[in-house]
Amino acid sequence: MTSPARTSVVAAPVQAAAPADISIPVSKPVSAPAGGPAAITIESLGKRYGAGPLVLDDINLSIEAGQFVCLLGASGCGKSTLLNIIAGLEKPTEGAVTVASGKAAVMFQDAALFPWLTAGRNVELALKLGGIPRKARRAEALELLDLVNLADAADKRPHELSGGMRQRVALARSLAQDRKVLLMDEPFAALDAITRDLLHEELERVWRQTGRTIVFVTHNVREAARLGQRILLMSSRPGRIVNEWTITDSGSRRIESPEVARLGDEITDQLREEIRRNAA
Ligand SMILES: Nc1ncnc2c1ncn2[C@@H]1O[C@H](COP(=O)(O)OP(=O)(O)OP(=O)(O)O)[C@@H](O)[C@H]1O
Ligand SMILES: [Mg+2]
Repeated sequence: MTSPARTSVVAAPVQAAAPADISIPVSKPVSAPAGGPAAITIESLGKRYGAGPLVLDDINLSIEAGQFVCLLGASGCGKSTLLNIIAGLEKPTEGAVTVASGKAAVMFQDAALFPWLTAGRNVELALKLGGIPRKARRAEALELLDLVNLADAADKRPHELSGGMRQRVALARSLAQDRKVLLMDEPFAALDAITRDLLHEELERVWRQTGRTIVFVTHNVREAARLGQRILLMSSRPGRIVNEWTITDSGSRRIESPEVARLGDEITDQLREEIRRNAA
């Protein structure tokens, strides 16, 4: 990870030469971004479930290694479908997805921990599946729990933990898979606002420390504006990438800051427009 510059929360145009407008419609940005090699490349991707309607249409995307990308769109627009295709859990109907580093780790809204295992053992299990020898697992699991500020809870079972703590264990478990790409599908949606704010901080810190490429799905505009270096807005029926914002980074920014609010308002306007267009 490059060392973080001071924050200036200015949503910058996607193309350097573009006017000062912070939102630039995207057309086929398949080439690798200027900043570095592509971790994820998506070309002419289309998806239909069986004989159903087109869910995703002509998605073209190149995500730079180490980038934090938020994927935003109305409910049902195909965010999870796109994430699942990147994860290899669903097959595209058309086009191709390449994850340069191989398989990605995935984290869902539900922590889905094994209830009979302690937090530590849940993380150790992921390490075991990753081929880490038994002797090294305990220490490594503790390190990962420490990374998400949960070292003290290693011996607790999921039912003894709060929802936010369970999601942190799930995050540690995702990191235990030691994949360069982390795909997150609304991981904090079920949490209260304060816990979610705290987990945003944790996630940002973990991202800066580990240099993961993160694709974070949400339908919470403020959450996207708080976390993303790059925010992609999807349309519905079919799902297409209709707009994107890049944010000149990248120290931490607070969800209640005026900059995040301003960016959130702009994105909300466009999201509403997409929803209206879809309803018409
Ligand atoms: N396994 C499936 N079989 C058939 N249709 C599906 C399947 N999974 C999703 N769909 C349909 O694909 C569309 C996109 O669903 P998806 O879950 O990707 O949306 P989403 O953007 O993640 O929504 P949400 O924000 O509510 O999670 C929806 O119309 C949904 O009904
Ligand atoms: Mg979804």
